[in-house]
Amino acid sequence: MPKTAEKTAIALRFGSSFWTCFIVGGFRFAALIVFIPFPAGRRGPVCSYCNRLRAGPAIVRSGRGEVLVCKRSLSAPLFPFRAERDKLKGRAFSVGTGVKGLLYQSVLKPVFFRMDPEKAHHLVIDGLHQASRVPGMASMLEGLYGVPDLPELRMELFGLDFRHPVGLAAGLDKNAKSVPGFSSVGFGFMEVGTVTPLAQPGNELPRLFRLPSDEALINRMGFNNDGADAMAGRLAALERRKIPVFVNIGKNKSTPNELAHQDYITCIRKLHEHADLFVVNISSPNTPDLRALQHGDELRTLLAAVTSEIAAQASRSGARPKPVLVKIAPDMTGEQLALTAETIAESGVSGIIATNTTLSRDGLGHANRGEAGGLSGRPLRERSTEVVSELYRKTGGKLPIIGSGGIFTAEDAYAKIKAGASLVEIYTSMIYRGPGIVKDIAAGLVALLRRDGYGSIEEAIGADHQ
Ligand SMILES: Cc1cc2nc3c(=O)[nH]c(=O)nc-3n(C[C@H](O)[C@H](O)[C@H](O)COP(=O)(O)O)c2cc1C
Repeated sequence: MPKTAEKTAIALRFGSSFWTCFIVGGFRFAALIVFIPFPAGRRGPVCSYCNRLRAGPAIVRSGRGEVLVCKRSLSAPLFPFRAERDKLKGRAFSVGTGVKGLLYQSVLKPVFFRMDPEKAHHLVIDGLHQASRVPGMASMLEGLYGVPDLPELRMELFGLDFRHPVGLAAGLDKNAKSVPGFSSVGFGFMEVGTVTPLAQPGNELPRLFRLPSDEALINRMGFNNDGADAMAGRLAALERRKIPVFVNIGKNKSTPNELAHQDYITCIRKLHEHADLFVVNISSPNTPDLRALQHGDELRTLLAAVTSEIAAQASRSGARPKPVLVKIAPDMTGEQLALTAETIAESGVSGIIATNTTLSRDGLGHANRGEAGGLSGRPLRERSTEVVSELYRKTGGKLPIIGSGGIFTAEDAYAKIKAGASLVEIYTSMIYRGPGIVKDIAAGLVALLRRDGYGSIEEAIGADHQ
């Protein structure tokens, strides 16, 4: 079998259809190539929508200023720049389609969704990892999925630069295997992990379930990961980071809650050099008793230990202290949430991620609803937005919040931003809609900001509370 680079050359030469690639390189390679449907880097002008220059090019105004599109794309039923053409009504950007989206929906997703969910997950991670090692692939992915410069969405937060506010949530790249790959498909930032001090296998298989009719997932992975040393090695080997990388840390299953702070400290020590920011995950429902760390003295003790380790690392390295966020669950009563918000605000950490997956099963129709674990995706959307809003109110908008839970469209992201989120993250919608969703959400956000007369995203943060 030829090497990956040779396979790529053969496949691109003969066209990048799934079946050509299947014959050349087998299933894994074919899936990888479908993820990268068109060769980029052609000479001369290309259509911004389909990456080819076909008959009758026209100029349209879009979120990125004036762009060139071909006549066929212009009349495509799901052409995203129609929103601009239709005087920025604000909805058309968020359908999660376009040629790349359609390819994902009609080719790759049916293949993936016929596979075991966890196997498909590994295929994506491995595919992206392999893709980013092939010369030219990163720019090919950027050409396809990269988000253009959208000045309205740029932001400086936690001392870091964000090109736009849409990031990858924790749990997809648990071991930091595909940081360059996820950077290339347009994310504004990404979380890696949850990582624990020691490698651990996680729960028994099967532990990941799809609920397509609810556009949801249930997982009980249980922090399966290669451990902090392995992650540190991978992050150290990266040449250059294109986007901020947050390291999400947790405790090993075998560590009792009384000693949990030691696990978080160990992760910080091992990964300090490589993280742009740490996320203290105390909200996974799949590690026994972890969520108890969200309350009262347990939370106070943990955050005191974490912030003092961060300060110690900063004075050792002579750099500013790395920001720390706390990721919380959506399944708290109003009273619990108020107390947790107060403790987090007093602890001196930099912000909150709201929310992790839920234990609620309200409104689900799919047969897999009975599976144990955390529910993510569409059914979580309203509850996580409510939590963002509550936190913003309780903290007077002083503590930055990252919104996570059920974001599928620009409107979903915008709702979280107006409720008080400065940044947003996605996971489940990427599985259902494909990587093109990042660009769709970012472009749609620009349209929504303009529709409402905002000059920048910062003006819209917490707008519901004014
Ligand atoms: C399969 C799976 C694994 C996850 N693993 C983690 C994890 O290791 N750490 C974490 O903080 N969140 C984890 N999450 C939660 C996501 O980061 C995210 O907060 C949640 O899924 C809600 O966002 P979504 O509705 O866009 O998926 C996981 C989610 C899924 C679906």
